[in-house]
Amino acid sequence: MSLKTLTYKPFDHQIDLHTDEHRFKAIVGGRRAGKSKSAFAEILKHTLSYPNVLCWWIAPTYSEAREIGFEDFKRYREELGPAVVNVNESLMRVEFSNGSKLYFKGADRKDSLRGRGLDYLVIDEAAFVLKETWQKVLRPALSDKQGKALLISTPNGRNWFYELYSRVRDNKDKSWKAYHWPSQINPLITEDEIFQARAELSSNDFRQEYLAEFVTRSGQVYEDFGQDNVIDSFDIDINKYDIYLGADFGYANPASLVFMAIDPLRNEVYQFDEIYQKKMSMEVMLHKIKETLNTHGLTISDVQAIYTDPAGNAEEITSGISPVDYLRKTFTVFNKGTHIAPGLQLVRSFVLNANGQRRFFIHERCTETVRSFYGYTYRPVTQSNEDLVHEEPDKDGIHDHACDAVRYFFVNRFDHALWIADSVDQYEYTLKPGKQTFIKRCYGCKKPFPSKSPKDRPPFLCNDCFRAKE
Ligand SMILES: Nc1ncnc2c1ncn2[C@@H]1O[C@H](COP(=O)(O)OP(=O)(O)O)[C@@H](O)[C@H]1O
Ligand SMILES: [Mg+2]
Repeated sequence: MSLKTLTYKPFDHQIDLHTDEHRFKAIVGGRRAGKSKSAFAEILKHTLSYPNVLCWWIAPTYSEAREIGFEDFKRYREELGPAVVNVNESLMRVEFSNGSKLYFKGADRKDSLRGRGLDYLVIDEAAFVLKETWQKVLRPALSDKQGKALLISTPNGRNWFYELYSRVRDNKDKSWKAYHWPSQINPLITEDEIFQARAELSSNDFRQEYLAEFVTRSGQVYEDFGQDNVIDSFDIDINKYDIYLGADFGYANPASLVFMAIDPLRNEVYQFDEIYQKKMSMEVMLHKIKETLNTHGLTISDVQAIYTDPAGNAEEITSGISPVDYLRKTFTVFNKGTHIAPGLQLVRSFVLNANGQRRFFIHERCTETVRSFYGYTYRPVTQSNEDLVHEEPDKDGIHDHACDAVRYFFVNRFDHALWIADSVDQYEYTLKPGKQTFIKRCYGCKKPFPSKSPKDRPPFLCNDCFRAKE
């Protein structure tokens, strides 16, 4: 069977990729440019054209490999007909009649990536895979059989994928070929879709996500935040606005609560007050919330919900009950786990979107939030290179608390499946042994478990629940 029997009809940009014989290829592309679709065609071409080959499809995480890679693959299953002899769901392995095998794997499961003798490798969203995983695990697996690789991704700052792309583009490595595909290269993308995307992203995020530019992230996280987002008067009309709170808990660190009024018709958000204080017991916090509401002529029953961080489930040693459980006696409380980077993108799109609109305003009385928005930064990985920054903003203890409270509000209130994490960025952190042990409450089974990382840090799941997810 050949690829021609698939219904896939590549667009011009994809044809260039398919006819190119380089051993290594990289596509840096915008969202929906057609990267994954053509990578599927490439990997299937390989499994079908050669007998007994071993191919891997890698995604940054196991759940992405399953939900995006493997599930998408199954759509081809019927078309492939008898060419596929077995699909093993738990191993995410596809066996072909010619003896070739295709596995779907997550780069976060290093143990599953051991192995040699790979013939073909696709890394989807490669810029989100660790450099070491590519260099020390995946690239070496291609050595003994001179296997081929196709790395595809949207940009993720100026990290290793940017370095790789630049080197190839400058023709410094002849075994590689690199492609740049902005989203609009896909003829299926409409003007409407692009307009919508610009409304939902800041201009820098739009450049990264759709124009596939390697935007530098240095300095301010909320770089477009300015005086136009700060207002000096705001009247709360309870008939016009919905009231919500965002909360980042802390005791030794300041707890931060932000008071939000949403205009649901215009999709605008007004922060009209804040609480920012250390060493507040839950009783004091509750009292202060009521007091603050009162100064605006509001009561607790006007609050639709409080959105908090997932770590808010952890039991407070002081009160023996988690902040979330405590507040639930009075309010509706939501605390879904969310990924940080897309949450920041969401907030940025309210600060100023790529169509020039601002939809988030902070009253000047919220001095801690305004100060935090200006000072919230990405820290460079090294002193010498300002361009390469940590993917997450600096948790300096000074600017992160209020910004976190605001972000929890936005991600939970403007719910999009994309922003909901199923394992709360758990894989990004490693525990340093020998430190203090913390007791946390498991996000899954709600039972207490010991952990070596602080309470506001992953893991938020106990070992049993974490394994159960795998
Ligand atoms: N050659 C093609 N023919 C038909 N539809 C395509 C083709 N290439 C891409 N698409 C469609 O365009 C959309 C985006 O493609 P996808 O490969 O998922 O993009 P990316 O991985 O770059 O985000 C998907 O709906 C996909 O099915
Ligand atoms: Mg894709």
